[in-house]
Amino acid sequence: MSNKIQTLSGYIHEYAKSVQNPDLFWSRVADSFFWQKRWDKVVEWNFDDPDVKWFTNAKLNITENILERHLFIMGDKPAIIWEPNDPEEASRTITYSELHKMVCQFANTMKAQGIQKGDRVIIYMPMVPEAAVAMLACARIGAVHSVVFAGFSATSLADRINDCEAKMVLTADGNFRGTKKIPVKAVVDEALEKTTTIEKTIVLKRTGLDVTMQEGRDIWWHEAIEGVSTENKAEIMDSEDMLFILYTSGSTGQPKGVVHTCGGYMVYTNYTFQNVFQYSQGDVYWCSADIGWITGHSYIVYGPLLAGATTVMFEGVPTYPDPGRFWAICDKHKVNQFYTAPTAIRALQAYGTEPIGPYKLDTLKVIGSVGEPINEEAWHWYHDHVGKGKCPIVDTWWQTETGGMMISPIAGVTPTKPSYATLPLPGIQLAILDNDGKELTGNSVEGNLCIKYPWPAMIRTTYGDHKRCQQTYFSSFKGYYFTGDGVKRDEDGYYRILGRVDDVINVSGHRMGTAEVENAINEHPKVVESAVVGYPHDIKGQGIYAYVICDMEGRSEENLTSEIRQSVTKIIGPIAKPDKIQIVSGLPKTRSGKIMRRILRKIATKEVSNMGDTSTLLNPEIVEEIMEGAK
Ligand code: WTA
Repeated sequence: MSNKIQTLSGYIHEYAKSVQNPDLFWSRVADSFFWQKRWDKVVEWNFDDPDVKWFTNAKLNITENILERHLFIMGDKPAIIWEPNDPEEASRTITYSELHKMVCQFANTMKAQGIQKGDRVIIYMPMVPEAAVAMLACARIGAVHSVVFAGFSATSLADRINDCEAKMVLTADGNFRGTKKIPVKAVVDEALEKTTTIEKTIVLKRTGLDVTMQEGRDIWWHEAIEGVSTENKAEIMDSEDMLFILYTSGSTGQPKGVVHTCGGYMVYTNYTFQNVFQYSQGDVYWCSADIGWITGHSYIVYGPLLAGATTVMFEGVPTYPDPGRFWAICDKHKVNQFYTAPTAIRALQAYGTEPIGPYKLDTLKVIGSVGEPINEEAWHWYHDHVGKGKCPIVDTWWQTETGGMMISPIAGVTPTKPSYATLPLPGIQLAILDNDGKELTGNSVEGNLCIKYPWPAMIRTTYGDHKRCQQTYFSSFKGYYFTGDGVKRDEDGYYRILGRVDDVINVSGHRMGTAEVENAINEHPKVVESAVVGYPHDIKGQGIYAYVICDMEGRSEENLTSEIRQSVTKIIGPIAKPDKIQIVSGLPKTRSGKIMRRILRKIATKEVSNMGDTSTLLNPEIVEEIMEGAK
């Protein structure tokens, strides 16, 4: 692709052009795609409503840009290489022409089962190629997919189905995770008891686990596709038609449905994928995320496949059958670009370098990190032992809401600095604001990370509740998109993300709202009140610390805490299980009744030497008691 940056001066030049004339810059990038009709305007926007449109009135189908656009010259090229959970099971390679047939066939299948343009379809599936096929088949017919991470509970799944009034669930009998077989369809069955909108489910056979199939509602995948045509004419979509909804946690109790649209998301994910990873034709690229997260959407499925890349998809976990599995996969499939999360790096680092020993890792050219700040120690370990000192690390900062990478080195082009996401990508106009909303200019400043100009893959709305989108992202600082992250711009103008400044905890790169976890804890009948904060955790980055007021009658502390953990797992899923639960008799509150989380955070972090002034609290004596209890 002609839009590839190859030198530092090239980056500086492209960045300047993107700011001076964004319309020209993005129309040049967009020109390399296949549009059914070209746009009237590149971008129209205001951040007050907000109202953002990219490539106005352009018509396209993103799957034509993934499939038809690549078929002539590289129909036989592997699109997806799938590595199963069990290393003894054969891997699968799916070429672009095979993917084309699978997507078309499944698109026709969904249509035959009653799905039309605009309908919402939930994907609750293991990491198998069919999950990517399901996403693309939705995009093909203009259905809006909403992938729900298959580790979420039935309640979480039901909430998401209800919020978007989905008509169909695509799922599987089960999910292989290391030595375990996790029932997936059973979770769907439980969720569907709490929903009314689902008409059909299509169930992929993967593990052979026993499932109950409800007559008239549930169909096996292999039976549904039998005899269905592998030819399909793509639905023509408007650039601003919805492509997908992805639910993510925020500071309030309920996850919100982040909405992405077709044209801008396509242009931006492809552009950033090509540039950040410096992907060349013939390379094998692997992102170890799950498709249930935005990283899986943008950088396992859409970005790489739009670029005609070979993308590896891994079903299992990093430690099965042993902690060398990631490196075994890199060698086996000759991976050139590898993209993972700091939490995985730290977890593997804990086993030392021995598990890496047997592997060459000599095909790696670029290694990447995403999801949370990467600490210097993990950065160096990754650089020295995985990248063998010769692979640039791309520490990519972005969010579900941004759709694609925003601050990141361009591999081999941008000089890196441990734990720095470095510089904004072309088109991204950052601003650091102090708490009063004043923009801090110049270097050596620290504050709230905001963005002052739209970019093609940005969030358009939160599904069914536009006001919430406005309030969450565009109301803290008028005229800016607020990320919720704190950031430092150092003396060289390099950006280092400092973590969330709101009530969001980043556990192993997964976003959890404190209110969401509190709500789940409070469901336990013996719980009176709770407060949840994050604290530094060696492997997970942040752990969940819960202070809980309970009615202890007839229960031991041990029983209660384990019941609370179980109930959180049931309501949200295992990822939200508190790491520490402290039973307390009260919570520090202001006179207006607000919980003083600042104090709880300090206790959880063991920074108790400077508690600040607690005399204005309603109940200052409780602080001493909680500190005692925390020991
Ligand atoms: C954090 C994941 C530091 C950040 C793509 C952000 C990071 C949240 C980085 C979004 C990074 C992501 N360095 N922090 N390289 N990448 N974050 O929506 O706090 O799951 O706001 O998107 O993760 O998480 P999300």
